[in-house]
Amino acid sequence: MGNNLLKGKRGIIFGALNEQSIAWKVAERAHEEGATFVLTNAPIAMRMGEINNLAEKTGSKVIPADATSVEDLEKLISESMEILGGKIDFILHSIGMSVNVRKGRHYTDENYDFTMKGLDVSALSFHKVMQTSKKLDAMNEWGSIVALTYIAAQRVFPDYNDMADNKSYLESIARSFGYHYGVSDKVRVNTISQSPTMTTAGSGVKGFNEFINFSESMSPLGNADAGACADYCIAMFSDLTRYVTMQNLFHDGGFSNTGVTQEVIEKFSS
Ligand SMILES: NC(=O)c1ccc[n+]([C@@H]2O[C@H](COP(=O)([O-])OP(=O)(O)OC[C@H]3O[C@@H](n4cnc5c(N)ncnc54)[C@H](O)[C@@H]3O)[C@@H](O)[C@H]2O)c1
Repeated sequence: MGNNLLKGKRGIIFGALNEQSIAWKVAERAHEEGATFVLTNAPIAMRMGEINNLAEKTGSKVIPADATSVEDLEKLISESMEILGGKIDFILHSIGMSVNVRKGRHYTDENYDFTMKGLDVSALSFHKVMQTSKKLDAMNEWGSIVALTYIAAQRVFPDYNDMADNKSYLESIARSFGYHYGVSDKVRVNTISQSPTMTTAGSGVKGFNEFINFSESMSPLGNADAGACADYCIAMFSDLTRYVTMQNLFHDGGFSNTGVTQEVIEKFSS
């Protein structure tokens, strides 16, 4: 049941691959809250076809776009304005991929072509989305743009590999672009730093199951799931958070401010 938090708002949602995707849950929640939006993903991800079920369920159109291609983004954003009948109020960037992680390359043995590809997909694409929407004057005032990130941007999680560097860059782009977009168009830009979540991208990280359990026991509220992350995204797209911008917002059950928990201490008692 929605509360019309996004009634009349128009959006673009990147990154719904399957039902586990955080973007999928955001689309479902945005629909419940009265938004209309376009769904997009890389052409290669479309071939799996699952996004069409989500489009049907939410009454949305799907436009394929490789988020690293400015040409694709120009087409996506201008067509979205036509389809939705006006400027955009919210954008979700829910995109991440590391070729080094996929190919099992250790952080100290990166293939730099892989590194550049992952950086482009996971971080620079966020800049490209915003630069394109700004040039096309596509965002309404007080519009809200959110990208998803992870705390490995601030602290070392060894198996997160070069995605940690990509997320640092992503968060920095949110601050820098958020400044310029705020001054010029009153558009706000934030990143949400989410708990580890069992999705296609998440489970690509080595030792992910163990890691989710560790994170659960280090979070006073437990790990936040994808549905709760979607709720937070909706709050950030709504008019209730209009003066929040250029922030990295932890949505992690308290993990980021916890040194240790009693549960973890007890695991070490002899
Ligand atoms: N799952 C986690 O544990 C976790 C934790 C914190 C942050 N995040 C972040 O959340 C976001 C969403 O990931 P998810 O966990 O829902 O996994 P997911 O695999 O469902 O989503 C990742 C998406 O990125 C898309 N993508 C990849 N390359 C692309 C390209 N060139 N152009 C357009 N789209 C492209 C994929 O098709 C996919 O839909 C990512 O930024 C991820 O890093 C995930």
